[in-house]
Amino acid sequence: MKEKVCILGLGYIGLPTACLISENSFDVCGIDVDEQVLKNVRNLNIYINEPSLNSLLKKCLKSENLKVQNIPTYADYFLICTPTPIVYNNNQAKPDLSFVFGAIDSILFFLKNNNTIIIESTVPVGTTEKITKYVKQARPDLNKIFIAYCPERVLPGNIVFELKNNTRIIGGINKISTNKVAKFYQSFVLGEILHTTSKVAEICKLAENAFRDVNIAFANELSLICKDKNINVSEVINFTNKHPRVNILKPGIGVGGHCIPVDPWFLISENYKKSELMRTAREVNTKKTIYIINDIEMQIESFFKNNKRLPVVSFFGVSYKENSNDVRGAPAVQIIDKIIKKLDKFYIVDSFVEKILNIKTHNLETALENSDIIFILVKHDNFNDIDIKIFNKIIFIDYTCS
Ligand SMILES: NC(=O)c1ccc[n+]([C@@H]2O[C@H](COP(=O)([O-])OP(=O)(O)OC[C@H]3O[C@@H](n4cnc5c(N)ncnc54)[C@H](O)[C@@H]3O)[C@@H](O)[C@H]2O)c1
Repeated sequence: MKEKVCILGLGYIGLPTACLISENSFDVCGIDVDEQVLKNVRNLNIYINEPSLNSLLKKCLKSENLKVQNIPTYADYFLICTPTPIVYNNNQAKPDLSFVFGAIDSILFFLKNNNTIIIESTVPVGTTEKITKYVKQARPDLNKIFIAYCPERVLPGNIVFELKNNTRIIGGINKISTNKVAKFYQSFVLGEILHTTSKVAEICKLAENAFRDVNIAFANELSLICKDKNINVSEVINFTNKHPRVNILKPGIGVGGHCIPVDPWFLISENYKKSELMRTAREVNTKKTIYIINDIEMQIESFFKNNKRLPVVSFFGVSYKENSNDVRGAPAVQIIDKIIKKLDKFYIVDSFVEKILNIKTHNLETALENSDIIFILVKHDNFNDIDIKIFNKIIFIDYTCS
């Protein structure tokens, strides 16, 4: 008989994971508390912009290896893929684990001996151990539950491929749990499976994203220094990266998305004094967005002074990264929200995104026909095809590598 897997949270991580597992001889039940999410999944109306996810989902639902519903059920494996946002208080942030514990609460009734709980949500160090205690206290009748933390490190836009091919870190609360969960992942993952403890696995995930944040902050800081000296930062980075041991990342308009601006706080909030560099990186990256807002305001003012009217402005690119429809935490949205209040007429152009701030995105051609200034905030591939020289009346300002 097929083993049963119950996956809690059918978002960016849970839904592709549910599909991948159900394709591999497991009977999968996907759970989400949001009825709209369930309806969208059933109708194949998914917002996640992932190549092949739609066809994979269609296949899994048709084969009935994947079912979706709003309450958990009995299973052999329970995977927790619920959100772990941060909540801000006085410019500092703390992780909100209520969705993870909410998911754990919802499976308590269904747990049986020999069941396995796997946490995939990004969590602060020590959370898997806390969950273990919590489960033991709530279900003292059980004496054999396997629990492990297995972080996700997929790149949105390539999730289906990476879920299968990335190296996975399995951190059990004990060796038996690690081995049991490693065997489970081996049945559908082609990448290497690394065995460790839950705390090591938890901190590895956080360190990965904090490392990225710190390195982006370096690029952003360098870009501002170059700007002051009227030096092209792209050229500097290109040449510097010819050094065999240097790899400076690209500067941009700030850091967005679901992970990099969020996860460092999971380390900072519990290690405030020891995380000076990570705190500074957060500050540098946040300030880069403010710097861009100020710069755009200056460009608008300068146009106004020269032309005695406000410019018609276009913003190109709104998602948090290139060629993606994901606008979660996108600095471009923050920038546009601030600037449009000062404009009479503007266009927002992004072929991946239908709507932001309740405004429908506009067509590229209309923006090119009518704009005085175009601010490139995120450079999707289709913007590279624009021949700027033809539009010699438009001022193009590209913030994507400056
Ligand atoms: N998106 C990424 O690229 C990425 C990468 C690595 C790690 N992660 C981590 O994975 C976790 C999930 O992220 P995501 O992007 O998939 O989130 P998401 O917001 O896309 O999806 C989470 C889903 O969980 C559902 N949910 C909330 N509480 C629930 C409950 N008690 N039971 C069942 N469903 C519930 C929500 O309705 C939502 O549909 C987070 O901890 C995130 O940090 C995400």
